[in-house]
Amino acid sequence: MLGRTTVTQHLLLTQTEVSGATGTFTRLINELIVAAKLISREVNKAGLNDIIGYAGRENVQGEAVRKLDDFSNDAIIRRLQSSGVLCAMASEEVADVIEIPRNYPVGDYLLIFDPLDGSSNIDVNVSVGTIFSVLHRTTDSCDQGTLEDILQPGYKQVAAGYFVYGSSTIMVFCAGNGVHGFTLDPSIGEFLLSHENMKIPEWGNTFSINEGNYYYWSEDMRRYIDYLKDPKADHRGYTSRYVGSLVADFHRNLIHGGIFLYPADTKDPRKPHGKLRLMCEANPLAYIVEHAGGSASDGTQRIMNIIPEELHQRVPLIIGSKEEVRIVEEFIQGKR
Ligand code: AHG
Ligand code: MN
Ligand code: MN
Repeated sequence: MLGRTTVTQHLLLTQTEVSGATGTFTRLINELIVAAKLISREVNKAGLNDIIGYAGRENVQGEAVRKLDDFSNDAIIRRLQSSGVLCAMASEEVADVIEIPRNYPVGDYLLIFDPLDGSSNIDVNVSVGTIFSVLHRTTDSCDQGTLEDILQPGYKQVAAGYFVYGSSTIMVFCAGNGVHGFTLDPSIGEFLLSHENMKIPEWGNTFSINEGNYYYWSEDMRRYIDYLKDPKADHRGYTSRYVGSLVADFHRNLIHGGIFLYPADTKDPRKPHGKLRLMCEANPLAYIVEHAGGSASDGTQRIMNIIPEELHQRVPLIIGSKEEVRIVEEFIQGKR
């Protein structure tokens, strides 16, 4: 334990490997870590403090906001707006681009985040998380970042990651040099390297999907799920695991192999492309999974190739082991 690498040591080490690195990225990640420690503390006391339950309003997504959504959102915005490394932010919980207050310096990075993922699980003590994506500004300015800076395709991300507040608090992130996991040691308040250079198995026998939506899916998606459950089909058998927190389902599949799907469905006419958001959920996890050797698709194209049109646009998400994603695409594209 004494010899374990801290996330700050790891950042400083990898920073030396990035030409032209100036330490601003390290500052960004360190401020995110402070916010995550604050969120982790609230999550681990939920039920004792007045932090569970609803905040009494709906967000831009038309979803009831929970108190911990608000707390997490505020924690990240307050820590990062004063960091001097961002020119703008965007949050799942905020309708428009979040500007940097005039009294703080402006930097060249942009942060897009889901402050609390899986928030419907917080009241029942099931893992939740935070997801983040980092972009570099495209507009040539030293002033505030714009929506144009933010609406970049996923392959332009310079880093991405997530925190899972579960049996332990873990941070997984990638800045282009491998995917690495760090576990929080609450006794010293440090994230310590616990999963170096993570790789997702090419195959997996776990599928994660909300089967309550079965009759709202396309015929091809129903055929694919029927195939997974068919004991006579040409595979070794699958098991189903669905937590209802994307980060928790994704993290399990990253470690053991498997596939997570949130396909388009006809359940809610306001959400014809499914529930998950391109900018703050699909893109960052697609960046992580591809750097770990996996795939992320909307069924017909690579998630990170999608050109964003709106800040909160939703996208069907099929993500995980490369061979498992390929099979789903074959069903959707009529090849199976
Ligand atoms: P969020 O709490 O940020 O809105 O995300 C919840 C998402 C995702 O975490 C999870 O995979 C999905 O909602 C579960 O949706 P269903 O309850 O419709 O299955
Ligand atoms: Mn989410
Ligand atoms: Mn959320």
